[in-house]
Amino acid sequence: MWLRGLSRGILTELGRAVSSEAGRTMQRNQQLASVYVSRRIPQEALRLLQDSGICDIKHWDSEDPVPRTELLKGVAGADGLYCLLTEKIDKELLDAAGPKLKVISTMSVGFDHLSLEEIKKRGIRVGYTPDVLTNATAELTMALLLATARRLMEAVAEAKNGGWGTWKPMWLCGYGLSDSTVGIVGLGRIGLAVAQRLKPFGVKKFLYTDFEPKPEIAAEIQAEYVPLDKLAEQSDFVTVHCALTPETNGLCNKDFFSKMKRTAVFINTSRGAVVNQDDLYQALTTGQIGSAGLDVTVPEPLPTDHPLFALKNCVILPHIASATVATRTAMALLTSNNLLAGLKNEPMLKELPL
Ligand code: GLV
Repeated sequence: MWLRGLSRGILTELGRAVSSEAGRTMQRNQQLASVYVSRRIPQEALRLLQDSGICDIKHWDSEDPVPRTELLKGVAGADGLYCLLTEKIDKELLDAAGPKLKVISTMSVGFDHLSLEEIKKRGIRVGYTPDVLTNATAELTMALLLATARRLMEAVAEAKNGGWGTWKPMWLCGYGLSDSTVGIVGLGRIGLAVAQRLKPFGVKKFLYTDFEPKPEIAAEIQAEYVPLDKLAEQSDFVTVHCALTPETNGLCNKDFFSKMKRTAVFINTSRGAVVNQDDLYQALTTGQIGSAGLDVTVPEPLPTDHPLFALKNCVILPHIASATVATRTAMALLTSNNLLAGLKNEPMLKELPL
């Protein structure tokens, strides 16, 4: 696997090392920054690293995540790490990498897989990928919200499997956005982009909650700042867009769901752990809330025999909010650019403030 995993860049470097310029190349190799790339990434992004001329790349060139033991071995002595949200970057990994590690670039906007305190202690810089995925994520949130509220999965199954008898007045009725109140948990870039897309559907009122009021963003959609329990009580739709932090872990729990309307639709495209899944299951099965649409779960992938999959009023997607070709390519390129900037001690395009 490891040999198969060697990028063309390294092979090229090895090839040069045995050429007539062996001495000079070897000297140059000593100055190259050692970079570990933890997954197969779009070609353009890998080429950017290779063509930079400053990286000696070790590459886990697979669609599947690198096993932890391989990762710990692979990062040893690295100056830079290109990782995904599937890799836990904790004390153990940072110790395995050693003191040379100076930049971590994650191909994600979320950073809950990074132990920021440990990273900060070591003076390591972190690049991430906000903005480039905002539109794709907002679009997917819209698709999931409409699919959940209008029961599209059930409807498709009925049409296909013979359940479509005749037109019936109240069959497969769901909930519409016109004149509704939408509650946004976490009014950042993505929360705002979702609200902007929802507005033309006739939403009457936007509520939001966050660590503190965000009057400038809220003004764009005339959203009202309310505490979490008021948002739960008053919203017809709740859509979650906050980062996963110790403060938001389990935020949507029994108490929260018990305050929601019995007809309310709950959507989460942020991180699974913001929701207490057992409490959500209870809320969905006891009629405390109407339905839920989840792009994120705990764990991921959610086992196929998980009880949530058995519920007609729960739509579950496999964490695809940013999955358009253009967006994933842009994320991968931004991750490479951030990594290179970090290695060169230059400002990154998108650096996480630590
Ligand atoms: C996706 O979930 C991301 O954090 O980019």
